[in-house]
Amino acid sequence: MSQKRVLITGAAGFLGSHLCDRFISEGYFVIGMDNFITGDPKNIAHLSSNSNFLFIQHDVTNFINIEGGLDYILHFASPASPIDYLKIPIQTLKVGSLGTHNLLGLAKAKNARLLIASTSEVYGDPLVHPQTEDYYGNVNTIGPRGVYDEAKRFQESITMAYHRFHGLETRIVRIFNTYGPRMRLNDGRVIPAFMGQALRGEDLTVFGDGSQTRSFCYVTDQVDGIYRLLLSDYPNPVNIGNPHEISIKDFAEEIIKLTGTTQKVIYKDLPVDDPMQRQPDITLAKKLLQWEPKVGREEGMRKTFDYFKNLTEEELHKSEHKDFSSYNK
Ligand SMILES: NC(=O)c1ccc[n+]([C@@H]2O[C@H](COP(=O)([O-])OP(=O)(O)OC[C@H]3O[C@@H](n4cnc5c(N)ncnc54)[C@H](O)[C@@H]3O)[C@@H](O)[C@H]2O)c1
Repeated sequence: MSQKRVLITGAAGFLGSHLCDRFISEGYFVIGMDNFITGDPKNIAHLSSNSNFLFIQHDVTNFINIEGGLDYILHFASPASPIDYLKIPIQTLKVGSLGTHNLLGLAKAKNARLLIASTSEVYGDPLVHPQTEDYYGNVNTIGPRGVYDEAKRFQESITMAYHRFHGLETRIVRIFNTYGPRMRLNDGRVIPAFMGQALRGEDLTVFGDGSQTRSFCYVTDQVDGIYRLLLSDYPNPVNIGNPHEISIKDFAEEIIKLTGTTQKVIYKDLPVDDPMQRQPDITLAKKLLQWEPKVGREEGMRKTFDYFKNLTEEELHKSEHKDFSSYNK
């Protein structure tokens, strides 16, 4: 049997790079694609001499040409943290819309199965708790986060249209907060933010009164759910996340304990449209994919903290954000 070939967009990002590792370990030939807008070549540096890996630097909002056949495409290219998509709103909309359209066209031409990375953000600030896949969401289309949420909602719509109209094999994963090594320390998400503050000896910043809840899925669990979904025969969206919920205030206390920092928690105003509750209902994933998260928060946080602890002093103190000026068209 010939070796299966998979294209992974967003390969130099957090999730994309872990997906590259997983598919290579499963015996696939992996083509990674990225334009490094929020990703880092360091995340895939260990694959540079791997004969089962090919990297192509390319912006997926432009036409994509791949030599040879493809069995699967995983579209993970997109700014993913609020700090990123607030700085590059147009790119965020383009990668979810034009980028997805290009990848659907490529999948059709290659007769490949396409899996798209959607998000719990399609539920917006949810009025249903926990969120099941049949909940339509509560999104502010014109709010600052709308660029991401609506790009992802459009991405789901166009993907289903290609599935229904062209009979394309498609899969949609709705990813809930995922964490682990290779997250960016300064990406504004709560786990790297708290860990970075603890490592730099700063107070931990909680936005609002800290009663808002989050649930965090360790990266290997997330990747396993995605892998199983790709190989399933289910075209509708599936939530993958860890349903174990915690308030941000309690989470800050956990981080203080884990890191041994002597700093305290400080409170700041809640940003616009920050969801109050986030918790996946994973009944469908359990039934359909025989999947559920295995890594507990304590173990996952320890592994993540070990990664951040090993960053260089320069990386730890680099507070300025990536320069997006050349991308922000
Ligand atoms: N991490 C999470 O908790 C989470 C939650 C929900 C959804 N997701 C989705 O998963 C995907 C990956 O997220 P992540 O956390 O790894 O983010 P990330 O920022 O680490 O990775 C995204 C990657 O996409 C690349 N990229 C962005 N625009 C591109 C373009 N036009 N062309 C080529 N490459 C481009 C970036 O350079 C980066 O390497 C995203 O689609 C995101 O929406 C992630």
